[in-house]
Amino acid sequence: MIIKTIEELRRWSKQQHLDGKSIGIVPTMGALHEGHLSLVRHAGEQRGATVVSIFVNPTQFAPNEDFHKYPRPLENDLALLETTGNPAVFLPSVEEMYPTGFDAAVHIGGVSQFFEGRLRPTHFDGVATVVLKLFAASGADTAFFGQKDFQQCCVVRKMVSDLNLPVEIVVCPTVREADGLAMSSRNSYLSAEHRRQSVVLSQSIERARNLIEKQVRDVPKILDEVRTVISSAPDIRLDYAALADSETLQKLTDFDNVSEMVLLLAAHIGTTRLIDNEVFKV
Ligand code: PAJ
Repeated sequence: MIIKTIEELRRWSKQQHLDGKSIGIVPTMGALHEGHLSLVRHAGEQRGATVVSIFVNPTQFAPNEDFHKYPRPLENDLALLETTGNPAVFLPSVEEMYPTGFDAAVHIGGVSQFFEGRLRPTHFDGVATVVLKLFAASGADTAFFGQKDFQQCCVVRKMVSDLNLPVEIVVCPTVREADGLAMSSRNSYLSAEHRRQSVVLSQSIERARNLIEKQVRDVPKILDEVRTVISSAPDIRLDYAALADSETLQKLTDFDNVSEMVLLLAAHIGTTRLIDNEVFKV
């Protein structure tokens, strides 16, 4: 079932609740791959009704970013969803989500300021605004996000907590290609050579994991090794590699009083920007 307007989505949602079903939402920008489909399967396991939104959200792209060239293979997306539990699909137009005169924005402080937020200052306001609109329109009880976008999960969780939204957030593991590269709609931008080189991101995560498993507790040393692995790819330019507290995203300089940390990575290869992360319990 394809739903194009907020009013229709509200009617659908009301009916699901009247039928005694809970609602799970999987927000996406389309160009679906196994990472997205794993979220849809997790949602399906809840045995309620699932809605997948496909909306390339203009407010989370800066003017110099790839909004216009972002892939939009809609027929293929719909075919993939039909074979993945056949959820309802919310496919709004830009005008439906942002009608003329739209003048609101959701700003989540703290966790949205660092890393991606520092390099893409308007990005998380756009994400928070559209996600809040999707939650409100769908009446979702549960929402599924991928750990792949770790900071996005932190921002959404903080929004839910600070604004008392009645939505449970479920974070699902990152799905990777056979060689370790985290799946992403943007991987399709990579040339064959850049695709080959981009494996260093997940390799650097493995390096960090090995060191931490060997009880290395020296943050600068771990980050040095991570950077060394990444710099073995000649065309990759690192934006950041950092270890941070997995809840506050404050950068860590040592392992004192930390039980869970996240390694956050962002890099450019050619004109493509890739992010990856891994959580370590210590
Ligand atoms: P998009 O990049 O399409 O991702 C949609 C969801 O799929 C996000 O929760 C993302 O973390 C998850 N995802 C992407 N790649 C994944 C992978 N390899 N493994 C597991 N999950 C993965 O994130 C967005 O869209 C947008 O910012 C959105 C939340 C829809 C708001 O516009």
